[in-house]
Amino acid sequence: MRVGFVGWRGMVGSVLMQRMNEERDFVHIDEPVFFTTSNVGGKAPEIGRDVPPLKDAYSVDALSSMDVVVTCQGGDYTNEVYPKLRAAGWKGYWIDAASSLRMVDDAIIVLDPVNRQVIDRALAGGVKNYIGGNCTVSLMLMALSGLFQRDLVEWVSAMTYQAASGGGAQHMRELLSGMGALHAAVAPQLADPGSAILDIDRAVTATLRDDAFPTKQFGVPLAGSLIPWIDKDLGNGQSKEEWKGQAEANKILGRGDAPIVVDGLCVRIGAMRCHSQALTVKLKHDVPLDEIDDMLASAHAWAQVVPNEREASMRELSPAAVSGTLRTPVGRLRKLGMGGDYLSAFTVGDQLLWGAAEPLRRMLRILLE
Ligand code: HSE
Repeated sequence: MRVGFVGWRGMVGSVLMQRMNEERDFVHIDEPVFFTTSNVGGKAPEIGRDVPPLKDAYSVDALSSMDVVVTCQGGDYTNEVYPKLRAAGWKGYWIDAASSLRMVDDAIIVLDPVNRQVIDRALAGGVKNYIGGNCTVSLMLMALSGLFQRDLVEWVSAMTYQAASGGGAQHMRELLSGMGALHAAVAPQLADPGSAILDIDRAVTATLRDDAFPTKQFGVPLAGSLIPWIDKDLGNGQSKEEWKGQAEANKILGRGDAPIVVDGLCVRIGAMRCHSQALTVKLKHDVPLDEIDDMLASAHAWAQVVPNEREASMRELSPAAVSGTLRTPVGRLRKLGMGGDYLSAFTVGDQLLWGAAEPLRRMLRILLE
């Protein structure tokens, strides 16, 4: 197989390359070819073997000779290049991190620990487009897979705590710059244990509201604050990020004809690369909590149930604990006061791994099998 990689230098692409090196995926590819939008003829990344110089990512000819194209280049690139490639008669597999093709009929959203059967059916049926899902949706499904597998979920409400990385690399930098600006504004008072906290707070708030505070990426301050809106305004009171919950989750699960209601509020917080979600799950019937624990913990190799205790929850169920790992822990599991079929849960997952790069990497491996 000849596999072309586009957008491998960006943040998601870099995580993909790192994971592919860790898993020795390149060993299984006859001919890896790296493309570029800006540096044709440049040097390809280090993958432990010789590869040709970078090819033009806008060349339909060059792309057409690939059996598989894996792109993390973004939606604008997909919108521009993908239609031309298909129009030229290309029959290869298109694996894409961008959202552009997610909801089209001849594309599958990939998350194989959750929907391997949907993927296998699509492969057998000749589907050629395999697209990574929205990070929040993928991480929610990874966490609750054990319940979805058994068709126990009537609806889910997800209240999200989404990391800066979902916006992109520049957004992560802005978060840190904001943190630094806040600290710098009060560093002398902070160093003095006798200073008044309300004076410190006043200076922090003034800094947050100052025009000089870094807000170019997010539009408003994130460090020391939060942003209760992610992605476009759909005009019906719902953000596009919130809309994706139900649309993508049901597509991933292959249940377009009997959709599960998924809705909630999506909120940006000052974490770096882990999205967290507080979930309310309406079960189809009352299932004992210990059985739920077992179902969730045994769903797939990355599932982990954190005991609903203070110490364990604080230690294991946070962006600080999960960042950079493939675990998708779920905890705070208990039946809510509304009744035995109302379950609370809290989950944390790395937005760049299971939320972005890992499903693509694994889809490629499925094709290479
Ligand atoms: N839309 C997500 C976010 C990222 O902004 O956090 C990607 O799925």
